[in-house]
Amino acid sequence: MEEQFLRLTTGIPGLDEMLEGGFPYPSTILLAGQTGTGKSTFSLQFLFEGAKKGERGIFFTTLSEPTNWMLRFTSSFKFFNKDLLGKEIIYFDLGPYLKPEFPPQDRFETLLRVIEEKIIEVMPQRIVIDPITVTSLVLKEKYREFLYELSHTLKNWQSVTLLTGESTHTSPFPLDPAYTSDGIIVLYNIEVEMGRKRYIEILKMRGTDHVTGKHLFDITKNGIIVHQGLR
Ligand SMILES: Nc1ncnc2c1ncn2[C@@H]1O[C@H](COP(=O)(O)OP(=O)(O)OP(=O)(O)O)[C@@H](O)[C@H]1O
Ligand SMILES: [Mg+2]
Repeated sequence: MEEQFLRLTTGIPGLDEMLEGGFPYPSTILLAGQTGTGKSTFSLQFLFEGAKKGERGIFFTTLSEPTNWMLRFTSSFKFFNKDLLGKEIIYFDLGPYLKPEFPPQDRFETLLRVIEEKIIEVMPQRIVIDPITVTSLVLKEKYREFLYELSHTLKNWQSVTLLTGESTHTSPFPLDPAYTSDGIIVLYNIEVEMGRKRYIEILKMRGTDHVTGKHLFDITKNGIIVHQGLR
């Protein structure tokens, strides 16, 4: 018998239709793209979509950015709702646990423990780690093992997790977190004639007959909107 996945809507207009209704639940999705392509915006829109429906979310930042900093850039979006922050959506800074004082082995264990403890405390259906790739700089040779252990922890948890990551020179997505992800979405900002266009591509989504190829998207006051079929 064919298995029917439960799905969580993405909150991105136009995208659920390309994913048979949303992200498989539970799953881990890698959201990749170069700087400024919209990864953080996408992630927050995804959390607010859940929060609106009573699904709890947690946003882990690895960049030592305080809540106020995130608020400055996010509060102008229409999907933003201050009443949900601190209640349905918890914002948590992993920056202090990534300080170079400790050897990579200690950071590896501390980071996993803090993430797991916070997840148990918040009980989220939606999790974001933005960006996951920064942890490679401090975890060094422990980075792959960390991703493996993290994916193991997340598999025991009923949630959709978005891991954001930078594209590399040779690949549109970072390779290490790709191996431990059930789905890969890439955001592009491509130069055309006298300007640039934004594109989204679903490269992989386990268990899903998803739409392929690059599709135009915009970032507006309403957040990200995908225009399926437009090039
Ligand atoms: N209110 C807005 N209306 C329209 N576009 C916006 C708005 N706010 C941000 N943007 C666009 O979104 C871009 C930033 O997106 P975002 O911060 O989500 O990217 P990112 O991929 O997370 O970048 P980084 O890798 O640097 O963290 C801005 O550079 C701008 O082009
Ligand atoms: Mg960002």
